[in-house]
Amino acid sequence: MFSRSEVNNYIVELLRFDLAHGRQPGTWYKYHNHVYGVGYLAQKIAEMLGNLDPEKAWVFGVMHDAGKMYEPFQQRFHGIVGYELFMDKDIDIAKINLSHSFYFNKLPEYEKVEKMFFGKREDYEFAQNLFMSADVSEYDKLIQLCDCLVNCNGFVTLQQRADEFAMRNNLPVPMRLSEDLLKLKEYFDYKLGCDIYSLYSKISSDFMLTSGNDYK
Ligand SMILES: [Fe+2]
Repeated sequence: MFSRSEVNNYIVELLRFDLAHGRQPGTWYKYHNHVYGVGYLAQKIAEMLGNLDPEKAWVFGVMHDAGKMYEPFQQRFHGIVGYELFMDKDIDIAKINLSHSFYFNKLPEYEKVEKMFFGKREDYEFAQNLFMSADVSEYDKLIQLCDCLVNCNGFVTLQQRADEFAMRNNLPVPMRLSEDLLKLKEYFDYKLGCDIYSLYSKISSDFMLTSGNDYK
């Protein structure tokens, strides 16, 4: 498995790539805060559950969007890009990259996600085959949920995150939350014996970057 320093190095490499390809300096905090936030939240939940490895949860959380920066250049869904980047290095990180956008690893019909897959049906079919060939892991579910609980400024509610997504994509606000997403939250709330939102105040925000600061 990747160590924390390997993960951190990968994220720095991504920053360098993105700055060299037109990212506005000082805006890295957006990606940084989201992926590290997902990592620390997943770690916290894993620690509390006791049957998941907190270290793995952190690595999967920070790496779940590993393909994101390459998506516009490859014109392919970042989940597929991330899967291919890691399939020979760490198959578990590769799988998380692909599964994190689909609650319970359920793929909607192709027509509904055609844009997300950049019109590449072969990529969609690849994801479909992969999901059919394996059970949904606890880590899949964990990262799917955590991804919906962290934005570029820290921890938020599902509704806040969904509304932000709707505003970015010119959709009506408030956005209706999908039943599967609500089920995911209920699933972990029940296992934890508390509302996940109550964990936010127990996670140190030391990892957060502020706007304008690309490096810490
Ligand atoms: Fe994400």
